[in-house]
Amino acid sequence: MLEKRINMKTGFPGPKTLAVLEDLKKYESQGDLCFANYGTPPVIEEAEGVFVKDVDGNTYLDLTSGFAALNLGHCPKAVIEAAYKQMNTVHHTAQQPTEVRMKLAKKLVEIAPGFLKNNSKVQYDTGGTNAVEVGMKLAKAYTKRPYILCYQGAYHGRSFGTLAVTCFPFLKENFFPIMPGAVRIPYPYCYRCPFGMKYGSCGMQCARHVRDLFSDPTWGLIDRKKGTNLVAGLLFEPAQGAGGYLIPPDGYWQEIRKICDEFDVLMVDDEIQMGWGRSGKMFAIENWNVAPDIMMVGKAFTGGVIPNAAIISRTEIMDVLQPIHQSVTFSGNPVGSAAALAMLETLEKEKLIQNANEMGAYFLGKLNELMEKHPLIGCVQGKGLMLSMELVKDRETKEPFETIRIVKEAVKKGLLLTISGHFGNRLNIVPPLIIKQDQIDTAVLILDEIIGAFEK
Ligand SMILES: Cc1ncc(COP(=O)(O)O)c(C=O)c1O
Repeated sequence: MLEKRINMKTGFPGPKTLAVLEDLKKYESQGDLCFANYGTPPVIEEAEGVFVKDVDGNTYLDLTSGFAALNLGHCPKAVIEAAYKQMNTVHHTAQQPTEVRMKLAKKLVEIAPGFLKNNSKVQYDTGGTNAVEVGMKLAKAYTKRPYILCYQGAYHGRSFGTLAVTCFPFLKENFFPIMPGAVRIPYPYCYRCPFGMKYGSCGMQCARHVRDLFSDPTWGLIDRKKGTNLVAGLLFEPAQGAGGYLIPPDGYWQEIRKICDEFDVLMVDDEIQMGWGRSGKMFAIENWNVAPDIMMVGKAFTGGVIPNAAIISRTEIMDVLQPIHQSVTFSGNPVGSAAALAMLETLEKEKLIQNANEMGAYFLGKLNELMEKHPLIGCVQGKGLMLSMELVKDRETKEPFETIRIVKEAVKKGLLLTISGHFGNRLNIVPPLIIKQDQIDTAVLILDEIIGAFEK
């Protein structure tokens, strides 16, 4: 049994951690390791709930949830048992049908948001990046149009298709040419409004800009002969993940839905990071009472136990796919399907979405108290347990403070955090949805101490 508290037995980094990291660097590509987040990351040996233990015996409180894949916490028993049972029954069939994948698809259609509910079909895949690829393919195939709108500061993956709609330039270096036809638009990042305006008096200029793109032919997105739109879909994260848990203001997605309806453009919703209760609703877009036309899910779909992803779209859109038009070896895998069904059952049985709302409100209140005390914190945002703060050297100029410095200090004190943001100056707080009040208090105390020390 893992200790249920922070305990830095040897201090960080301990000797075993350093030895493993040295060998890892020798044998493994650095392309997949999280050195960027910590400089030196802990080497995890064991994990349970919201705690992880490293190879030196130090125990940490995990506010990263394995990049939002562990909504049920580490090692969720019910999901592991369901996966194990399925493994011992039938664990792989490729495209051969199984009852368990049918049950999961039925469940997804039943819980899909808005007009997707009972009016959609499911396509399986193995990971978030692939799911976004399929979402874009569906939008293009259904509308027969070439362009995809995507947002400044978005993250959707690193394949040749998704790199075009992911907006962090360093990820693209040396990989051109990537998918053509991606058109970037400003995200409703009110703290740093791209139009220099203030929410309340701005008339939502960022949404107006989208309308303008569809109205003014000189943007180049209207077919000159037919007068129709050339945009297949607007790809979006309901709240930006890697962008810094940026939460658009009330009314924004409703306005975008209206504009998309008016100009016949599909809304393609990337719920890979924000889905499965993280935002206090099953799917984040439900916070705005909006339904997308196509939605992608992944990450916490199986409580992080086994890779799995799905695309859920309006039936007539999904029906553009022909037999074996879109398939990968492990899509619809029976173990992944059983694990996803168990994840959904656990969310419901343990009332974890309710806990995300209650603990999220508590955590947000505490972060706001920290902001009152610390000028280094420029802004705080949160819905459910997707929480973030933006760090600035000066509240007037909003000059970014490098969050990595906070993250590196926090790991020494037993707290795991994620850096994020357009300028690398936001801190994503992504606890498992099972987190309790005393654990939040511990995290806030550590943040208070570290931020205070930097201010001195
Ligand atoms: C919003 C969003 N979309 C897509 C992806 C890609 O998912 P994956 O890394 O599982 O391929 C991520 C991953 O962080 C994400 O946050």
